[in-house]
Amino acid sequence: LHIIHIAAEIAPVAKVGGLGDVVTGLSKALQKKGHLVEIVLPKYDCMQDDRISDLRVLDVVVQSYFDGQLFKNKIWVGTVEGLPVYFIEPHHPDKFFWRGEFYGEHDDFRRFSYFSRAAVELLFQAGKKPDIIHCHDWQTAFVAPLYWDIYASQGFNSARICFTCHNFEYQGKAPASELASCGLDVHNLNRPDRMQDNSAHDRVNPVKGAIVFSNIVTTVSPTYAQEVQTPESGHGLHATLNSHSRKFIGILNGIDTDAWNPSTDPFLRFQYNADDLEGKAGNKDFIRKYLKLSSSDATQPLVGCVTRLVPQKGVHLIRHAIYRTMELGGQFLLLGSSPVPHIQREFEGIASHFQDHPHIRLILKYDDALSRSIYAASDMLIVPSIFEPCGLTQMIAMRYGSVPIVRKTGGLNDR
Ligand code: ADP
Ligand code: GLC
Repeated sequence: LHIIHIAAEIAPVAKVGGLGDVVTGLSKALQKKGHLVEIVLPKYDCMQDDRISDLRVLDVVVQSYFDGQLFKNKIWVGTVEGLPVYFIEPHHPDKFFWRGEFYGEHDDFRRFSYFSRAAVELLFQAGKKPDIIHCHDWQTAFVAPLYWDIYASQGFNSARICFTCHNFEYQGKAPASELASCGLDVHNLNRPDRMQDNSAHDRVNPVKGAIVFSNIVTTVSPTYAQEVQTPESGHGLHATLNSHSRKFIGILNGIDTDAWNPSTDPFLRFQYNADDLEGKAGNKDFIRKYLKLSSSDATQPLVGCVTRLVPQKGVHLIRHAIYRTMELGGQFLLLGSSPVPHIQREFEGIASHFQDHPHIRLILKYDDALSRSIYAASDMLIVPSIFEPCGLTQMIAMRYGSVPIVRKTGGLNDR
C-alpha cells in the first residue's frame, strides 16, 4: 500500500512527546513490511535539521488557499530514519512555523488549518494517489473534512482516511468562523452531526470533524478506547464516539526497539543487555556522580520520572513521590518540563529547594540524551498518570531494565 502520514511531529527532528515517537516508529514498521510510506510535516524553524539527511528544496512550488487567497509553499524533502519526509514552508506573512516553538501559539488553529490544507494540496498537485492518508491529532484533523468537502468532488477520492487520536484532551476547538480560512464551508460543517462542538454551538471541533469524516478512527490503546466512550473520560466526545463506534478502534502503540535499545544506544555511557547488566550499574554510578548525588551505596534504589509536566501526568502524585522516596531512603531523579507556567514555577521551586540534596534532583528541560541516561540508570520509573491514552515511558523503562510503577488507567492498564 501507499501510505501518507500527515503529522505535526516526527522523532527525532520535531518531537514534543510520544506522537513524534509513534509517527517514526509506525512508519518504519510499515516500511519494513513492504509498504510505501511518506510523511508530510511543517518546516519548523526549531527542528533538529542535523538529524535529517539529504535535505533539499524541491523544484515545485505548491499553491494553497487561505483567507481567500493563494499562497506559495516551498517544499523540502529529506530522509528521517530512512523515511522520506516532505516539509512544507509557507510563504505567508504570519510566518506560521518560524516561532521557535512547535505548539502553544495564540494562532495554533490558523497555523495547523493552513498546514492541513497545504498538505492535501501538496498530494493533489504532486499527483500522489495514496491508498491511505493517515492523520494524527487535532493539528491535522482538518484533512478529513477538507478531503470530503473539497477534494472528493474533484475526483481525488481514491484514498481512505485514517485518523488517530493520541489524546482526546486536545481537540483544537475554535470559533466556527475561523474554519472558513482554510476553505471549509462553515454553514455546511457547523452542524451537530458534523464539526460543531458538542457543548458550544458557536464553536467547531476539529477532532469531532475527523471522527465524522474519516473512514477509520483509531486511538492508542484498547482500554483508552473504552474509557473515552464514557461521559467521565470522553472529554465531551463520548456521544460522538458512541455513534461512530463501528469505525473506532483502540490499537496499542509499540516502541521502536531499534531506536530504544540499551545495547546500541549511542547516548549511554555504558551499553548493556538483558544478559549482562553490568553496564546498567555503571550508568547508575555515572549519573549519580554527574548530578552530584550521593553514590556511596550502590544498592540504594534510584527512582526516575521522565515526563511532560501537565495535569494528565499526575503532577501532584509526582510531587508526592519525590518526598515519599526520600522518606523511604531512595533517590529520585525527575526530567521534565511544563508548558503550564504555574506548574513550571512550582517545580522550579522544588528543584531549587533540593539543588544540593544528596538524594533528589529535578532537571526541568527537554533533553533526549539525558532521558536515555535516566531510563538506563534508574531501578524504577514512575508514571502516575490521571489518564493515559497509551504512554511510552513505561515501555521504554522495561526495555532499559527499569521497573515501571504506574496508575491503572488507559494504556498503562493494557498489555
Ligand atoms: P506524552 O506523549 O503524553 O508526552 P508518552 O509517554 O507517550 O507521553 O511519550 C513521551 C515521550 O517523550 C517519550 O519518548 C519520553 O522519553 C519523551 N519525553 C518526555 N519528557 C521528556 C523530557 N523532559 N526530555 C526528553 N524526553 C522527554
Ligand atoms: C499522546 C498520549 C500518550 C501516547 C502518545 C503516543 O501524547 O498522551 O499517552 O503514548 O500520544 O501515542
